[in-house]
Parts: sequence; C-alpha cells; structure tokens
Amino acid sequence: MIVAADAEALALAAADRVMARIAANPARIAICLTGGSSPKRLYQLLGSDVWRSKIPWQRVHWFIGDERFVPESDPLNNMAVARATFLDRNAPPGQIHPIPTSADDPDASAAAYARELKAFYGAEQLEPARPLFDLVLMGAGPDGHTASLFPGYPEIEETTRWVVGVPKANVAPFVPRVSLTLPALASCREMLFEISGHDKQPILTRLVNGETLPATRARSNGETVWLVDQAALAEGIRGGR
Ligand code: 6PG
Repeated sequence: MIVAADAEALALAAADRVMARIAANPARIAICLTGGSSPKRLYQLLGSDVWRSKIPWQRVHWFIGDERFVPESDPLNNMAVARATFLDRNAPPGQIHPIPTSADDPDASAAAYARELKAFYGAEQLEPARPLFDLVLMGAGPDGHTASLFPGYPEIEETTRWVVGVPKANVAPFVPRVSLTLPALASCREMLFEISGHDKQPILTRLVNGETLPATRARSNGETVWLVDQAALAEGIRGGR
C-alpha cells in the first residue's frame, strides 16, 4: 500500500507507475484501464502535454477491465470516458480495444471481447510466465466490488472464462455489465488500485482488515499495489502523521 497526501498526489503517483511500466517493456505494451470516477484525473494527466509526449503511443494497446452494457455514446460507458479524456487524441485507433456493447446481450459482448483478448495474446490459455497485461488499473466500489465482479455473485468464482456478462449490477449504475474475470485480471505484471476520498473510508477499512471481498481477492500474478490517499484511510490506520 502506498499512501498519497491527497487525490492529486495519488493521480500523479499513478501516472508515474504507468510510465514506469511502459519504460520497463521495450516491446508491445498492454494496459487495462478501469471505469468509475477514480481514474479520471489520471486519464487527464496522461493526456496532458507533459505526460503524453513521453508515451510511446505506437507501442501501447489500451483495454478496459469492465464495461457498463450501454452504447458507446452513453456517458456511463467507461471506455468512452477514457477515449474522450485522453485516448482519442493520442492513441492509434486500432490500439484502443473497447468492450463491444453493440452485441445482443452482455454474454455475447463478453464472448467477443474474450476472442479479441485471445487474438491479441496469441493463445487460448494464459501462461503464468507471460502476462496478458503490463498494467491493470482497478477501483473498489462501496460494496467491495472491483471491475464488475460483485460480492456474492457467481462471476467472481469464474476460473475458466476470461470475460463474463453480469446481468445485474449490485450498485449504481444499475445497468448490466461485462467484466474481465479474476484469472484474466491477474495475468499482469502489476495491478494498481486507486482508492481516494473520504467516501471510500468505510470500504477501505474493510479491505485493510482483510475481509474477503472481490477487491481483496483480485491480485496480480506479479505485483499488486493499492494507491490510497489520506482521506480514504480511517484514523486508526493512518499512522505516521
Ligand atoms: C465501474 C468500475 C468499477 C469502479 C468502482 C469504483 O464500471 O463502475 O469499473 O469497478 O472501479 O466501482 O468506482 P468509483 O471510481 O466511481 O468510485
């Protein structure tokens, strides 16, 4: 766990980690983005002149860990937010990999994205020595969900499929979801959680106490980092102030 002073420092630290993962791989790079409000400042930073000029856009592919099953034109669409904030102005279009929400239903959308991920990876099975992603960004919801893997839902137990349809969300927005599964998300060099703000205090306290929830079960086969800010940390676990 890394503690940042505030939301801005947290986004800057996240941007530094994105750049470090990019710098560590001289070949093709795969980054799995996330939705919700937590990564928005990071996306703004990556699109700003200082950072965008340092990103080797021709070598980076951008995926998304979960999607709300709404059209791309809907403001709830996670990848649309990332595209509008930094990708469309910078990334080659063929290297932006949204979860297709024009499919008939979330299961069909999940199957299509699994095919896309497997084609990119070049194999049907994930090999522990060869991670799918360099970096997977994550957030944690108020019920301890991460990506669109909700506590007590069957999708959190998935061990085979890479992507699943989730017919009903446990928290707002109550639209069907499509989510990468724990094994697919784990196939990365680094999984980076961003957890910031006072509203996150109750759930971060439960996560730090080791409660078994999707956000604690989601682990990288490589490094797992929780980037949190002071406001999200409860008094008792803040320390060092
Ligand atoms: C989504 C997200 C989800 C998110 C958490 C945290 O589609 O909603 O991918 O997993 O990361 O719910 O959301 P906030 O960042 O909005 O608090």
